[in-house]
Amino acid sequence: MTKVLIATDKPFAAEAVNGIRNVIENAGFELVLLEKYTEKKQLLDAVANADAAIIRSDIFDKEVLDAAKSMKIVVRAGAGYDNVDLDAATANNICVMNTPGQNANAVAELALGMAVYAVRNFYNGTSGTELFGKKLGIHAYGNVGRNVARIAKGFGMEVYAFDPFLSAEAIEKEGVKAVASAEELYSTCQFVSLHIPATAETKNSINYALLSKMPKKALLINTARKEVINEAEIVKLMEERTDFKYVTDIMPANHAEMAEKFAGRYFSTPKKMGAQTAEANTNAGIAAANQIVDFIKNGNERFRVNKK
Ligand code: 3PG
Repeated sequence: MTKVLIATDKPFAAEAVNGIRNVIENAGFELVLLEKYTEKKQLLDAVANADAAIIRSDIFDKEVLDAAKSMKIVVRAGAGYDNVDLDAATANNICVMNTPGQNANAVAELALGMAVYAVRNFYNGTSGTELFGKKLGIHAYGNVGRNVARIAKGFGMEVYAFDPFLSAEAIEKEGVKAVASAEELYSTCQFVSLHIPATAETKNSINYALLSKMPKKALLINTARKEVINEAEIVKLMEERTDFKYVTDIMPANHAEMAEKFAGRYFSTPKKMGAQTAEANTNAGIAAANQIVDFIKNGNERFRVNKK
């Protein structure tokens, strides 16, 4: 029988697992669950006889993919697939997919929630500021960026976006101001929300030169990836600019240093929370299950992200 593994270090909500189980069992497949594993060996053992896998930020590197002898498809229930070695998957004849958009609203709500938290001085009882009337820059206007724009307009913010893969017309038809470069976005907006993926081009790209362009009382909100931030340079910048705040949903490698040096201006969630809602888990998990069934039964490769 076709075995579908859910391998999630950070588990889905129970109702999402039930929904996935329904889809998988109705297709006549078997569901196997590996949650909160503590050692890589558990993952290596679990993938060994699975035909398909649903994962989140779980690391599917060459060692894991090489061990997955009967694996045909891995679906990352979510947007970013920087945790999967795409070349190793292709070499092992494994199709890799993501589920774009399915968890986007959850991440966007958290981005704005973290913005409120920061401008209200982390709810410490002192007088903060409001989002109304302020300029928000959305760095990368994909599924999450679009949802951030929609919610930010509700707050009465002036919304700008930069996306190197979209035309100004495509952005502006949604009532958002398009700018021509990242430099222009950062020099225009007091608030910037990051929605870029972690790629060879974007890693370390949010650096001193870019952040120092931001206006007074700047706030950077990161619900994207920690790897896109140049950690040494954000420390240098925040040492120089005591008006600069940074909130992140992805704990940086230098978290202890940041928390100590920038108390009152820096916050990180203990574990990435952006997509951690029952709705997002259900949407992304069930989409992943349906994509697996459609791939195995009908060969549908829509949402494939690796080469054949
Ligand atoms: C994504 O890329 O979809 C988000 O970062 C959510 O990741 P998670 O499923 O690991 O929480």
